[in-house]
Amino acid sequence: MKTIITGDRPTGRLHLGHYFGSLQNRVKLQYDYDTFILIADVQALTDNYDNPEKVRNNVKELALDYLAAGIDPKHSHIYIQSLIPEVAELTVYFSNLVSVSRLYRNPTTKAEVGQKAHLFGSDGESITYGFLGYPVSQAADITALDGDLVPVGDDQLPHIEQTREIVRKFNNIYGETFKEPEAKLSTNPRIKGLDGNEKMSKSLGNAIYISDDEQTIEKKVMTAVTDPNKIKKDDPANPDVCMVYYYHKMIENENLKTICSECKKGKRGCVSCKKELAQAISTYLKPIREKRKYYEEHPEEVEEILKEGTKAAQNRAKEVMKRVRKNMKLDYFE
Ligand code: TRP
Repeated sequence: MKTIITGDRPTGRLHLGHYFGSLQNRVKLQYDYDTFILIADVQALTDNYDNPEKVRNNVKELALDYLAAGIDPKHSHIYIQSLIPEVAELTVYFSNLVSVSRLYRNPTTKAEVGQKAHLFGSDGESITYGFLGYPVSQAADITALDGDLVPVGDDQLPHIEQTREIVRKFNNIYGETFKEPEAKLSTNPRIKGLDGNEKMSKSLGNAIYISDDEQTIEKKVMTAVTDPNKIKKDDPANPDVCMVYYYHKMIENENLKTICSECKKGKRGCVSCKKELAQAISTYLKPIREKRKYYEEHPEEVEEILKEGTKAAQNRAKEVMKRVRKNMKLDYFE
């Protein structure tokens, strides 16, 4: 069976962007692949090194979100990145195979640095070694467990490409050791925010979280951007530029056709359309909220799941690292 490695940084709760961008895909794939889902606490520390409390709290939140969204511990191993020391070791070996200029060219890292002037300077002049190098450690996450497939959102593609380059170089120098992993995008790899921004994101404040309650969802949906040319309630409008319609589509509202034609004919006011959307999203997320509540009330079960998942990842990484050390001629006392 092929192996899936994927995960997220524990820096906040998961939102619809994560859900439709990758989480739903992972839930579907877990039955056909050996699935490892990592809570990337080491990577989260690269830009939260001064806030260990935040990372620690979000490890729990992320585990709850995974379980709530349908990651099934009978089919997936959820594990904590920092508890796999082999990954740190492999990162060191990989760091010889990547030039600093190559890391500077990574468009995802570049965009992130641009948003973190408070940490890395307005031109990124104070970027840390750790943050610049996190794609190398991500390559180690994937390869230390012999990952074949990485289901992620499209912002992660540069990291997978970087991983593939490292694997080719490593195999070239030390002999065939790793497979080249592949990214697997969902049908909606990037989800727009309520404000119409190309990306739903916590830092942009345009996100609906999968754990949001009914009132919060309604309040947020009321702020969604609609067709600016529609001034009066009975003006005809263009659903293709409306975020409300965009989300109706995303959750596959069964009245989609009616919504579209009423909107185009000016027979649908935005306020009632938003109310209908808020209701539909809330209904869509209800089973997720309920499952989350169950696990919130059973923390010992969550801990057991994380322990089991971490153990499975440790075992896999130990095997792989034997191969690595042997091929790198570091197997001194074997
Ligand atoms: N970079 C990913 C994110 O920001 C998290 C991550 C860390 C990851 N290691 C990984 C994703 C390995 C896939 C595979 O969400």
